[in-house]
Amino acid sequence: MSEVLFVYSTTDGHTRRICERLARVAQSQGRAARVMALPECQASDIQACGAIVIGASIRYGKHKPEVAAFVGRHRTAIEARPNAFFSVNVVARKPGKDVPEGNPYLQKFLRTIAWRPQRLAVFAGRLDYPSLGALDRLVIRFIMLMTKGPTDPRGVFEFTDWVRVDEFGHAFAKPSN
Ligand SMILES: Cc1cc2nc3c(=O)[nH]c(=O)nc-3n(C[C@H](O)[C@H](O)[C@H](O)COP(=O)(O)O)c2cc1C
Repeated sequence: MSEVLFVYSTTDGHTRRICERLARVAQSQGRAARVMALPECQASDIQACGAIVIGASIRYGKHKPEVAAFVGRHRTAIEARPNAFFSVNVVARKPGKDVPEGNPYLQKFLRTIAWRPQRLAVFAGRLDYPSLGALDRLVIRFIMLMTKGPTDPRGVFEFTDWVRVDEFGHAFAKPSN
């Protein structure tokens, strides 16, 4: 059965971990799966796959510009096979913002691209305060304070609902895709 390609755009690695998890789900359903960093993914990689999932994280309100550029460059090839997009951000820890229709970053991103992914998802991400630089840590703690999130600077907080990640993976990788 054709390979599922998982392409990730990440800063701190969490979106890659989600793609790796989705790849394991696909493999558990008998699909071949490949995980690649977005900057390394070439047109030939897309042509070689049977289905594609792109995941990207939010930093200061935006996905990296590389995501829209990639989608613009490869839209025809992406649309020629089963396809999906997911966004990773911490706003998605809040009920209502954890679904594509309710997540402001995903909705804004969709308005900037011509691609209409066949499937969409939003996953809550992870905050690893000790690994952040002083300024980022300060800003994110302030945002968390404002939005009733965790602020302990020694803390690592993972908000990801892995059951939902698995459900998305199962739905996408089912043999008809
Ligand atoms: C410096 C910084 C800025 C962030 N900005 C936002 C933001 O504006 N909105 C949001 O919901 N999450 C924000 N996040 C949370 C990230 O989306 C979350 O940590 C995610 O898991 C990062 O995924 P990655 O490791 O794949 O880059 C930010 C995180 C950091 C460290």
